[in-house]
Amino acid sequence: MSRTQANWSADGSYLPPIDPHTKAKHQILETYLENLIFTLYGKGRYGETTFTFIDGFCGGGMYDDKDNNIEWEGSPIRIIKAIREGYKKSRRKYPLNVKFIFIDNNQNHLDCLKNYSMPKAGLGELVDEQLHEYNGEFGKLLEECEFRCSEFENLVNECVWKIDIRKGHSFFFLDPFGWTDVSMNSINKIQSLKGSEILYTYMIDYLKRFIIGKQGQDKITFNKLLEAEGYYESADLSRLDKVGEQCYFRNESMRLFRDKGNTKYVFTFSLIPKGDVRVLYYLIHLSKNLTALEVMKETFWKENNLVFQYYFDLYGYGFKTADFYEEMQTSLMFNITKNSYDFCLEKLDNELGELIHNNQDGIKFREICHETMERNPASKEHYTRYINILRNEKQIEVWRNGKIVTGNKIILQRNDIIKLTGFKQLSFF
Ligand SMILES: C[S@@+](CC[C@H](N)C(=O)[O-])C[C@H]1O[C@@H](n2cnc3c(N)ncnc32)[C@H](O)[C@@H]1O
Repeated sequence: MSRTQANWSADGSYLPPIDPHTKAKHQILETYLENLIFTLYGKGRYGETTFTFIDGFCGGGMYDDKDNNIEWEGSPIRIIKAIREGYKKSRRKYPLNVKFIFIDNNQNHLDCLKNYSMPKAGLGELVDEQLHEYNGEFGKLLEECEFRCSEFENLVNECVWKIDIRKGHSFFFLDPFGWTDVSMNSINKIQSLKGSEILYTYMIDYLKRFIIGKQGQDKITFNKLLEAEGYYESADLSRLDKVGEQCYFRNESMRLFRDKGNTKYVFTFSLIPKGDVRVLYYLIHLSKNLTALEVMKETFWKENNLVFQYYFDLYGYGFKTADFYEEMQTSLMFNITKNSYDFCLEKLDNELGELIHNNQDGIKFREICHETMERNPASKEHYTRYINILRNEKQIEVWRNGKIVTGNKIILQRNDIIKLTGFKQLSFF
């Protein structure tokens, strides 16, 4: 039911080995958070100044990277450092207030984090749970850590309550060993907060084994915890090939979290183990905020190396290790020769073209993003380019404050209205 469980000794004398997909997960986490701070705090005149980060399954903070003979920093350390980087990049004069709550149900793991890993990473002063001022060159960065030894589920209400009082933006990193540690009810509560996001490790491969077998107690627990009655049930799985099966599980997972998770936007990263074709787990990003989804896509579209996922109208990016193509059966390659840029524009042409065509009196850019952002690999920049191509071909007009916007390349704003020019066919491919 759970992946190989990492264990930390309290004094850091034993650190678990790091694997490649945990490294990829860390890369996603830290790059995203740095960009999130830069976007929400650093951009615009009055950015967000209060943030709370909850690492609900934080672990001991350091791994043994045996291949490279070094230590590899874990999620709590990476979160703190990513926020500092985002803050430095922002160069803002007004203060940024950040609280980190680190939760683990194993006291040894928390001890290792506080007494070994954080001091080793140069963050030793933060373990006293007091407010500290980080010496940036710009406005103040105020940081405070809280460490809690508990089951995550038992602290969800408290966390939500604290964030509600603090206000501002919150981000939950939920990285359990298995699928039984986070309930849909908790996801719902978190998502009821204004400005909250979740990055959740969803262990689809373990789930799959028992979903296919549909066995007794596991199934009851699953349905109860994840409110999944009526999901993962309709397909004749034995008739699907490996890829079809993956697609089915992914679509059902998206449907489940969208319906039951009180969330607006669901975006996934598929993490595929070395030398395998199956998804071991999804990192699922849940948010109610279009900006958060845009930051996610902008940050990672270049690194995404699972283009084929989009051939099935599935959503999200994927990460695979370098030897993936060598080991992958050629039948799974789908003869993809297009580069990802053309692929994005083609996808947009299908989706946006239809949407614009069906709204001949005009549709807001915000509405276009809302309808389509989860379903294609394109970033906001691709949307801008695509719409500018259509404008320059005089297929559409962009209206702002009652006037047509002119110029070769315009930067789109959320309230801009996209209208068809006449009734020409919308397609340039
Ligand atoms: C996969 S490890 C976390 C790794 C860490 N997020 C990282 O990337 O460095 C999972 C951690 O969750 C803890 N854990 C397991 N079940 C838990 C629960 N129900 N509540 C809180 N922590 C739990 C384990 O002790 C372990 O330290």
